[in-house]
Amino acid sequence: MPKKILKKKLVIANWKMNPENLKEAKNLAKKSRVHASKLKRTELVLCPPTLYIESLKSKGKVKIGAQNSSTEDKGSYTGEISPYQLKASGAEYVILGHSERRKLGENDEMVAKKVVRAVVAGLTPIVCIGENIHDADGAYLEELKRQLLTSLVSLKPSDLWQVVIAYEPVWAVGAAQAMTPHDIYETTLYLKKILTDTYGPTIAPTVRMLYGGSADASNAAEIMKEGKVDGLLVGRQSLEPDTFKLLLQAVDNSL
Ligand code: PGA
Repeated sequence: MPKKILKKKLVIANWKMNPENLKEAKNLAKKSRVHASKLKRTELVLCPPTLYIESLKSKGKVKIGAQNSSTEDKGSYTGEISPYQLKASGAEYVILGHSERRKLGENDEMVAKKVVRAVVAGLTPIVCIGENIHDADGAYLEELKRQLLTSLVSLKPSDLWQVVIAYEPVWAVGAAQAMTPHDIYETTLYLKKILTDTYGPTIAPTVRMLYGGSADASNAAEIMKEGKVDGLLVGRQSLEPDTFKLLLQAVDNSL
């Protein structure tokens, strides 16, 4: 298990369906790379639209990820892109099970298939899980448990260290406010406990646990410190180089 990777914090920039053309994408990547070059303890992964991956790949320390990949490796699947194709284009990571894809019909079983195929193809899956409603009775905890365990079910336990989990409460994604750092701490602690109960105390801590949902420069430090997560999955703010720089610094300076 690579200890070096585990020590690094991770920021995933999810550009979603932005920007509008390759020129802007190159410009955004360039600025993000300059900011990332100053980071000491943090790895940045840019996840542009698939179309731009090949043009944005580089040998530098900023990695490239995709935002989705197919449940299949090859064949008659119109419009799909396989994990092998992503890998060949220069992607090293892939976001899977994002709530915006789940809204389009993706379910836990599909995510599970994608996760295992991605790992076999040599990609690091960033598996997104998150409750739709954070109800006071705690029913969301069962929902999270189901999402977590089903998404990983096809994976060999010995491959688990390659997986990144992004806890993204759906109601906090693209919202006005993030979850409170305290609630992030409690919920990710619960997820870590499920991993420990299922995979044991040696394997479970190797899984990096991120938070996503309205993370920005003003809340990043607190989320990292109080939430005790290994990094952030960032949507809108990753498109704003000036404030994204501050977010990256806040993550890098957090203990
Ligand atoms: P947001 O998006 O940072 O804009 O809330 C997060 C995400 O979609 O992962």
